Amino acid sequence: MKIKGRLGGGGVGWSSLGLPAVFLLCLFFFFAGFFGSTLLSQQDVSSLRPRPRVLESESEGARDIDKPLPRGQTGEDYVAGIPFQVLSWKPRALYFPRFATAEQCESIIKMAKIHLAPSSLALRKGETAENTKGIRTSSGMFISASEDTTGILDLIEEKIARATLIPRTHGEAFNVLRYEIGQRYNSHYDAFNPAEYGPQNSQRIASFLLYLSDVEEGGETMFPFENGLNMDANYDYRKCTGLKVRPRQGDGLLFYSLFPNGTIDQTSLHGSCPVISGQKWVATKWIRNQAQDD
Ligand SMILES: *[C@@H]1O[C@H](CO)[C@@H](O)[C@H](O)[C@H]1NC(C)=O
Repeated sequence: MKIKGRLGGGGVGWSSLGLPAVFLLCLFFFFAGFFGSTLLSQQDVSSLRPRPRVLESESEGARDIDKPLPRGQTGEDYVAGIPFQVLSWKPRALYFPRFATAEQCESIIKMAKIHLAPSSLALRKGETAENTKGIRTSSGMFISASEDTTGILDLIEEKIARATLIPRTHGEAFNVLRYEIGQRYNSHYDAFNPAEYGPQNSQRIASFLLYLSDVEEGGETMFPFENGLNMDANYDYRKCTGLKVRPRQGDGLLFYSLFPNGTIDQTSLHGSCPVISGQKWVATKWIRNQAQDD
């Protein structure tokens, strides 16, 4: 009765509702609770259930993707992956991290070193090859994959062909270059503009740079006109500006000098910033629109 008094102070008491009404109320709350929780749990379930399904179908998909298809006579039996990053669409430039191993790079350097143009510098008293570094201009040498008895350049060339799907026969011999402190390459085009160089039987489509060494400071490959930047008549071609790619041993950089329609992409202008500290070694492969007769 005390309860009744408290609850039903200004309204209807429990006892006045009668037993059937109390029963119905209880039933109502029971079902409300039951369906409410079911609805909530259904939401949980619906948000959880598709996940395993998605994962399942993804892993099924992954298995399908990894499964090689029957290949053509010149194809491969396996599904390969060469990781890359699109650095730019203007120019079309791709970055290939860890394209070659450190050992491969060191081996190419070792091989190229002995064939670099011999120093024409006469050493004075107290001068050594070490302390006259940087006085000479950058050195380089050409070597074709077939000339490399270690087989490393063969592997690299094959991988470049697979990454570009441009046959190996379209590549010039590797040009291995060394840049020492202060050495640079002013911005230029790899393609030959017929307006400046006359009609071309064969044109450079793309360039692949394999960085053979890290560079402590400087030596970046730069694209000063990237996305149309700096493209004014007074542009200073010695300037180190625009999109810069820092050399990292074993990493590759591919960029296209021509548009798909064969005209020169003006944004493919590029150069090498001066080396500030350390040495830069790079192997360049120029790829042409015509097969090269070696
Ligand atoms: C070639 O392609 C470029 C880029 O798509 C375009 O800007 C240019 O006008 C084209 N030139 C010709 C001659 O078709």
